[in-house]
Amino acid sequence: DLSTTVAGVHLDNVFFNASGVWCQHEEELKALLESGSGSLITKSATFEHREGNPSPRYLPLPGGVGSINSMGLPNEGYEYYLNYAKQFDYTQAKPLFISLSGLSLADNVKMVTAFVEADLPCILEVNFSCPNVPGKPQLGYDIDAMDAALATLAPLIKKPFGIKLPPYFDIAHFDQVAAVVNKYDNLAYVTCINSVGNGLAIDLDTETALIKPKDGFGGLGGLMVLQTALANVNAFYRRLPNKQVIGVGGVVSGKEAFLHILAGASAVQIGTQLKEEGPAMFDRIKKELQEIMEKKGYKSVNDFRGKVKTL
Ligand code: DHB
Repeated sequence: DLSTTVAGVHLDNVFFNASGVWCQHEEELKALLESGSGSLITKSATFEHREGNPSPRYLPLPGGVGSINSMGLPNEGYEYYLNYAKQFDYTQAKPLFISLSGLSLADNVKMVTAFVEADLPCILEVNFSCPNVPGKPQLGYDIDAMDAALATLAPLIKKPFGIKLPPYFDIAHFDQVAAVVNKYDNLAYVTCINSVGNGLAIDLDTETALIKPKDGFGGLGGLMVLQTALANVNAFYRRLPNKQVIGVGGVVSGKEAFLHILAGASAVQIGTQLKEEGPAMFDRIKKELQEIMEKKGYKSVNDFRGKVKTL
């Protein structure tokens, strides 16, 4: 049994796309709906449509270690995703998550207000961690600004909602962020992690950065971020006893998904591997996770969620 519950809604299985991958346009969202995923989340929306950064802006890295991207928040503008959410068939099995990534608190307020007024059964996830818009530092690394944003947004949203966090690398930061998150009762879950921001991938032969935007700097994803992702999932699982964690980062097979759940994840999102393999990946990864669980004698993900042992 791979089913789970996030923010009070049922998912037939723990897997869905990481926001940003396979979810900008309706055709991609349709493919996710038709896939083996347990849910789906839309591309982070800004108030206005954005083209994003110049290409190349995403590349898989040699050796299967992961990917680098500096997309720059290309998206159709929030009204597109609001219309999608309005016509979404909520009687089918998969719940819909909507990612919002306003370039200012005022934009987040306007977008959230529009969704609240539409009164739809989708779940809002506010993204505090896009590393790729020049001149816009991510809120996730400004803990006071994040607190101030949540103080405005949480009462507006009223219903359970989530936030997407960047990776943290210091125990003091885990403590500080958790203290803020714990202040907001309807903040039901955190999604950990967004990409490891501002890596630089360089080609040896041409001595050139691999992607074009920002002198080649971009967010890292895929297998190379697995242990950072597991640490963030587990750090917040331990510090947010009344909330949930969605794990994302470094999942390429059932094994990494199992580890995310063992670290405390209630659901597992997949970015780089989905981009590389396409939505057929969900059936493979479900089968692999199921096989690991059967070998270990676990019947449901609740049997081992958060049960990682320490020495
Ligand atoms: C983009 C990247 C992110 O990591 C994110 O959270 C939102 C947007 C992007 O570059 O498009």
